[in-house]
Amino acid sequence: MDKADHFHHCKYFVLRKKRYCKMTVKLGEDYCGEHQKVDIKISGVPEDKVRIVCPLDKKHTCYAHKLEKHLKICNARAKATQPYLSEGINCGLNGMDVDDDGLDSYRLLSTFSVADIKETILKVNKIFDTIVSNVLSEKILSNNVVEEVIAKPEHGNKAKKHLIQNSSILGLLEEYNLIKPNTCYIEFGAGRGQLSFWIAQAVNPEDTSSVLLIERASPKHKKDNKLARNSDSIKRIRADISDIVLNKLDNVDKSDNVVGVTKHLCGVATDLALRCLGNAAQNKVAGGVFTFCCHHRPTLLDKTLEFDNFTN
Ligand SMILES: C[S@@+](CC[C@H](N)C(=O)[O-])C[C@H]1O[C@@H](n2cnc3c(N)ncnc32)[C@H](O)[C@@H]1O
Ligand SMILES: [Zn+2]
Ligand SMILES: [Zn+2]
Ligand SMILES: [Zn+2]
Repeated sequence: MDKADHFHHCKYFVLRKKRYCKMTVKLGEDYCGEHQKVDIKISGVPEDKVRIVCPLDKKHTCYAHKLEKHLKICNARAKATQPYLSEGINCGLNGMDVDDDGLDSYRLLSTFSVADIKETILKVNKIFDTIVSNVLSEKILSNNVVEEVIAKPEHGNKAKKHLIQNSSILGLLEEYNLIKPNTCYIEFGAGRGQLSFWIAQAVNPEDTSSVLLIERASPKHKKDNKLARNSDSIKRIRADISDIVLNKLDNVDKSDNVVGVTKHLCGVATDLALRCLGNAAQNKVAGGVFTFCCHHRPTLLDKTLEFDNFTN
């Protein structure tokens, strides 16, 4: 038999191109590798609108033509395969009986009486005055590396604001002696990774330190991509903070110290980050600088914050 007889063309009709797929297929098979997975039998639906159930998790769907890309980013895949993920481990629900409804239950502010809201505001103010206000002080510091950049005229107000905040956070890390050799800096909710970028600039390259960025979204223009990736010293993990087990991460394992940092992280995620650090090997946790976000996204889970094993 001639070699060509072993192959024929894929039977998938590409609607957009008004012709069959040109990929060759082994005898006995109908579709090429790409179209085998999709095998769409729906007619009349534009090819780029067809959604299929995700093979990793029946609870959601994805575009058939984007299946390959989806499988690389699907949260179900990450949870199933990564040894450093354990679903909900940092949610603080150990032993608590919270059902699915409980996790998502909330009431609109408008459904509470004005009297109840006023009473709650008074309570919060009282707690702040008696417990919080005397332990809080304002400390705005700076870091030379970032200050040099701030001094340049090209920055707009927004960029400058973030640079000033990064400079101050680095100043605080220095003030509290948290810049030290062989340290793993973990930025929780890193966004585009600006703070991590400046930490990487500020640490001594001979320190064998590393920066770990934890972020569940995949923002564009990641600043950490601009850092020289000579080794594993810069690592971004796309995951939810609630699922991260720090002790199972190589960067943490290899380091003598672990330092947590956040910038504009919401209250809920700050709780998760504190528990995540609290669940790490305590002899390694040197401390952290947590700077919260001005916006709030509280849920019922906020109230489960446990500081018991977080002492730094
Ligand atoms: C307001 S942004 C701040 C981003 C960055 N740190 C900065 O200062 O520009 C908060 C970030 O935290 C991330 N985030 C919030 N909750 C998270 C969670 N539970 N797990 C992972 N990332 C989370 C969001 O996706 C978002 O990128
Ligand atoms: Zn094909
Ligand atoms: Zn999926
Ligand atoms: Zn904010």
